Order: sequence, then structure tokens, then C-alpha cells
Amino acid sequence: MRSVVFYNNKGGVGKTTFAVHCALRAAEYHRLRTLAIGMDRQGDVFRWLSEGEMSVQDGSVYEHSPNLTAIYSPNRQPNLRLHADLAVMDSSPSLALAGSVRADLVVVPVDGRLALEDLQNALPDLEESRAKLLVVINRADAGGARTLAALKKACSRVPRLTVWSSPIPDSAAIKRAAEYYRPVWEVPYGETSAGSRLMKALCDDIVSMLGLGGR
Ligand SMILES: Nc1ncnc2c1ncn2[C@@H]1O[C@H](COP(=O)(O)OP(=O)(O)OP(=O)(O)O)[C@@H](O)[C@H]1O
Ligand SMILES: [Mg+2]
Repeated sequence: MRSVVFYNNKGGVGKTTFAVHCALRAAEYHRLRTLAIGMDRQGDVFRWLSEGEMSVQDGSVYEHSPNLTAIYSPNRQPNLRLHADLAVMDSSPSLALAGSVRADLVVVPVDGRLALEDLQNALPDLEESRAKLLVVINRADAGGARTLAALKKACSRVPRLTVWSSPIPDSAAIKRAAEYYRPVWEVPYGETSAGSRLMKALCDDIVSMLGLGGR
């Protein structure tokens, strides 16, 4: 089984949004047997995939669809015996990444306006994790291209770290989708938005960086 964790030691940067989209894309488009593991206390991934209907207890399991199972496991990586192709983990800002989470890939969403600052704060933790690292600028404004160039320069000497090729825009469609617990490509008008196109491309790249997919 391959694994990806969405991590930043800062809150509200898009960890849950990316994790949910990645899990849905992997399960429904790439047809991978996928576990979506919510390690944040709020159980946001779990709530999203059960469309807000479940009250969560530690260890709760929810069968979202034949290829996608959500697990609520606050503050720790569960010891998985379930058979799956991919584990997608939504971590909590309070979780010390190194040592407590093992993953093949760490995806780090950084705030569009504070990208460099975010990365500097997260780097000590990331460097210890030994996984491949992918930094993604989220909620970028019109200055997104400049931020991307600055971030790429700052990251060029960090081993194993790649900055994703495009900033994800601050998108009304992504925001609306979250309110309905739907992926952005399913909400009315969302499917044609830049947010939707880039979110799909990001999820596909993550699946491919893990050596999975190929659909
Ligand atoms: N690209 C985007 N465009 C618009 N809204 C976004 C985007 N990405 C995330 N959001 C919104 O920003 C808020 C925070 O996102 P999210 O919950 O994914 O962050 P998080 O890192 O998981 O936060 P926490 O640390 O609280 O778990 C949510 O309301 C989400 O819908
Ligand atoms: Mg979250």
C-alpha cells in the first residue's frame, strides 16, 4: 500500500480540502482501493465523506463507496491491516510529523499570501520525515505566479522537495463544494472552473508520484 499525508504545522491552509479531493479522485477516477484517514481531532475528512451525518468516535469506519473507506483516528496513524492500494491521511497541525507518521509522500499546502513564511515554519519537521515532499500553493491571488517563482527559488536546495507547477486559486467553486461536502468537479458550475481543473491535475500528479494510477 502506498501512502500520502497532507501536512502543515499551520491550520486552515487546505489540508482537509486536498486530502478529500485526492481520496475521491483516487477511488472514483483511478479506481484505487483507498483509505481516507482523518488524524485531526475535528474529524473533518470523516465528516465530509459521510456528508456530515456521522458522529465520530476514535476508530470509527465509514464505507463511503466500494473503493473508499473513511477512518477517524485522531492524533495518530492507525495500524492498518485493511487491504488497500492507497492511504490518504489528513494530519493535524499539532501532530509532530517526523516519527509519528510514515508516508511515501508528504503534501504541504501553503497559504498563497504567506507561502514562504509557511514553508520556513514547516521545514524542520519536513526535513526529518524522509518522505518525498510536494509543496502546493493554495488560495493564491493575482500575485500567485510571483509567489511560485520565489518559492521555487527558496526550495531549490531542499532535497526531495518539489513545488507543484501551479498555484491553486482562491476559488468560489472550491469553497461552495466544501459547504455541500462535494468535490469541486461535482458542484453546479464548479466543473468548468480553474479550481476544478487544477484540483484534478494535482490529485492525478499525486497518484502518479506514488507510482499508482495510469488510467
Ligand atoms: N483553494 C481554495 N479556495 C477557496 N476556499 C478554500 C480553498 N482551499 C481551502 N478553502 C477553504 O478554506 C478553509 C480551510 O480549508 P481546510 O479546512 O481544507 O484547511 P485545513 O488545513 O484542513 O484546516 P485545519 O488546520 O483547521 O484542519 C475551508 O473553509 C475550505 O473550504
Ligand atoms: Mg483540516
